[in-house]
Amino acid sequence: MELERQPDPGHVPGCPRHVAIIMDGNGRWATQRGRPRLFGHHAGARRVREIVEACPRIGVEYLTIFAFSTENWKRTQVEVAGLMSLFKRYIIRETRALNVNGVRVRFIGDRVRLDKNLTRLMGELEQATAANTRVHLTIAINYGGRDEVARATRRLAQDVAAGNLKPDQVDEETLPRYLDTHVLPDPDLVIRTSGEARISNFLLWQSAYSEYEFIDTLWPDFTQAEFEHLCTAYGGRDRRFGGVKA
Ligand code: IPE
Ligand code: IPE
Ligand code: MG
Repeated sequence: MELERQPDPGHVPGCPRHVAIIMDGNGRWATQRGRPRLFGHHAGARRVREIVEACPRIGVEYLTIFAFSTENWKRTQVEVAGLMSLFKRYIIRETRALNVNGVRVRFIGDRVRLDKNLTRLMGELEQATAANTRVHLTIAINYGGRDEVARATRRLAQDVAAGNLKPDQVDEETLPRYLDTHVLPDPDLVIRTSGEARISNFLLWQSAYSEYEFIDTLWPDFTQAEFEHLCTAYGGRDRRFGGVKA
């Protein structure tokens, strides 16, 4: 479990090892075309394959995408149900291509509120791709950073109550072991499409020192070329982590 936190000898210098994307703007993209919001979500889902496929060429090892937040249940029943069936269709339709491309898929978020058919498909996809190592794709469904920290803290408290962990052992190393992302390195670069400059409850703990790119492109218009450009630009950034360059 801790293995993947170690530096990777195959890492491409200057390339973000882990990119996280807030895929925003599907609704506006559809509205601009006079179509229902779900039309935009379907167009958005088609972009995912392209971006996943670009990762090994660019050198991105981990890609984490925000598909549905703990706050997105506030949307109409039609939109929520449409998104849930889109997730099922995505899993069924993409399993083969994901395996061919060596993609290991993981899901983060609270599965308790999700429909049983969906969580079954999610578990099956995780199992079917568990041996792949070329790209690590993490899909956030019913994910919220605050909810994740709260669930982690609950499990941590249970371990303390059971005597498996002492209160003074709780620190910056132990807490993230309880997060949904415990096997993933922290994101180096977080991209949000659609012009909104906020993180909307995404990877709150993990992105403490991430670099951010807020771009105007709506998610269904996001291309491999733009993704590659952002990853290249990342190489020019000076990440100091609070220190001072010698
Ligand atoms: C992002 O697109 C996808 C989800 C949140 C599920 P939106 O649906 O938020 O699109 P806009 O922001 O309304 O344009
Ligand atoms: C964030 O987008 C969530 C996802 C992309 C899944 P939202 O569209 O839900 O965020 P807000 O409401 O603009 O903050
Ligand atoms: Mg939005």
